[in-house]
Amino acid sequence: MASDSTITNPLCDLAISIQKNQALRYFIARYFLLHRVIFYAVILITLSPTTLLADETVEQPIQFTHKRHAAPVEEDGHAINCLYCHTYARRSAVAGIPPLAKCMGCHRYIATDKDEIKKLTRYWESGKTIPWKKVHDLPDFVYFTHERHIQRFVFQEGQPVQQVCGYCHGDVKTMTVADRKRPLTMGWCLSCHEQFEDPLVHAPSPAEDWKVVASDKGLMSAAQTEALQTTKRNPAPSDCWECHK
Ligand code: HEC
Ligand code: HEC
Ligand code: HEC
Ligand code: HEC
Ligand code: HEC
Repeated sequence: MASDSTITNPLCDLAISIQKNQALRYFIARYFLLHRVIFYAVILITLSPTTLLADETVEQPIQFTHKRHAAPVEEDGHAINCLYCHTYARRSAVAGIPPLAKCMGCHRYIATDKDEIKKLTRYWESGKTIPWKKVHDLPDFVYFTHERHIQRFVFQEGQPVQQVCGYCHGDVKTMTVADRKRPLTMGWCLSCHEQFEDPLVHAPSPAEDWKVVASDKGLMSAAQTEALQTTKRNPAPSDCWECHK
C-alpha cells in the first residue's frame, strides 16, 4: 500500500507550479477580477433605480411622439387632449389606442412628406392595423378600470385631464415613446386608495408614492397638491375582491 505522500495529485501539481510562476498567478488574479467586475456590473444594472422604477421603453412600429401631439403649443406641441385619442378612458375599463382612421383624419393632409407618415399611410392603404406594443400590462387576475378613476378625478373633482393621467402614467406629454413610469404594484395602488379612506390624513404618510407622482414637473402646482391633500374624499376600495374579482 502506498503511503499518502507518494500519491500524486495532478491538481496539487498544478497548484504548486502556479505558486512558483508569478506570471501565471498574475494572469489568474486578473481573470477572476474581471469575472467579479462583470458579476457586480450585472447585479448593479439589474437593481439600478430605473429598473426598480420599472421604467420600460419599447420599440414601436411607428415613431409616434406624445410630445408633438399633446404638449402645449409653446412647447412645440399641438395641445391635443388625451381623451380625444384615448376616448374610452372615461367610460370603460380600457383607455384604448386610437384607430388608424383617427390619425388619418389629420395625416391625410398633415406632414404627408415625412417618412413616418408615409409608413402610416401604407398601413392605411393596405387596410392593416398598426401592431402597437403594450407598455402597461397588469396581470389578468387584477381588475382595473379607467372609468371610475377618470369620472371621479376629472368629471367630479374637475382636475385637469393630463394631471389625472399623470398619477399613474407620469408626464406623458413630454415623452417621445410612451414609457412605464409607475410601479403599478398592489402596494402602490393601495397607497393611494388608503389615503382616500381616511379623510383625516393630511400628512404624506402612505400616499407618499403617488404624491411624488403629482409633483412631477408641469403636472400639478404646489397649491393644487396641497388642496388635494386636504379635501374631504369619498372612499376608494381596499377590499381584496374589488381588485381581484
Ligand atoms: C394623437 C393621439 C394621441 C394623443 C393626443 C395622446 N395619445 Fe397616448 N397614445 C397614442 C398612441 C398612438 C399610442 C400607442 C403608441 C405608444 O405607446 O407610444 C399611445 C399610448 C399611450 C400610453 C401607453 C399605452 C400602453 O400600451 O400601455 C399611455 C399611458 C398614453 N398613451 C397616455 C396618454 C396621455 C396621458 C395623453 C395626454 C397627455 C395622451 N396619451 C395623448 C395616441 C395619443
Ligand atoms: C388633430 C390632428 C392630429 C391627429 C389626430 C394625429 N396627428 Fe400626428 N401630427 C399632427 C401634427 C400637427 C404633427 C406635426 C407635423 C409637423 O411637425 O410637420 C404631427 C406629427 C406626427 C408624427 C411625426 C412626423 C414627423 O416625422 O415629424 C407622427 C409619426 C404622427 N404625427 C403620427 C400620428 C399617429 C400615429 C396618429 C394617430 C394615433 C396621429 N399622428 C394623429 C396632428 C395630428
Ligand atoms: C388610477 C391609475 C390610472 C389613471 C388615473 C389612468 N390610467 Fe391609464 N392605465 C392604468 C393601468 C393600471 C393600465 C394597465 C391596465 C391593464 O393592463 O389592464 C393603464 C393602461 C392605459 C393604456 C393602455 C391601453 C389600455 O387601456 O389598457 C392607455 C392608452 C392609458 N392607460 C391611457 C390613460 C389616459 C389617457 C389617462 C387619463 C385620461 C389614464 N390612462 C389614466 C392606470 C391608470
Ligand atoms: C391617484 C389615486 C389612485 C390610484 C393610484 C389608484 N386608484 Fe383606484 N381608485 C381611486 C379612487 C379615489 C377610487 C374611488 C372612485 C370613486 O368611486 O369615486 C378608486 C376606485 C377603484 C376601484 C373601484 C372601481 C369600481 O368599479 O368600483 C378599483 C377596482 C380600483 N380603484 C383599482 C385600482 C388599481 C388596480 C390601481 C393600481 C393599478 C388603482 N386603483 C390605483 C384612486 C386611485
Ligand atoms: C387597489 C387594488 C388592490 C386591492 C384592494 C388588492 N390588490 Fe392584490 N394586487 C393588486 C395588483 C395591481 C396586483 C399585481 C401586482 C403586480 O403585478 O406587481 C396584485 C397582486 C396580488 C397577488 C399576487 C402577488 C404576487 O406577488 O404576484 C396576491 C396574492 C394578491 N394581490 C392578494 C390580495 C389580497 C389578499 C388582497 C386583500 C387583502 C388584495 N390583493 C387587495 C391590486 C390590489
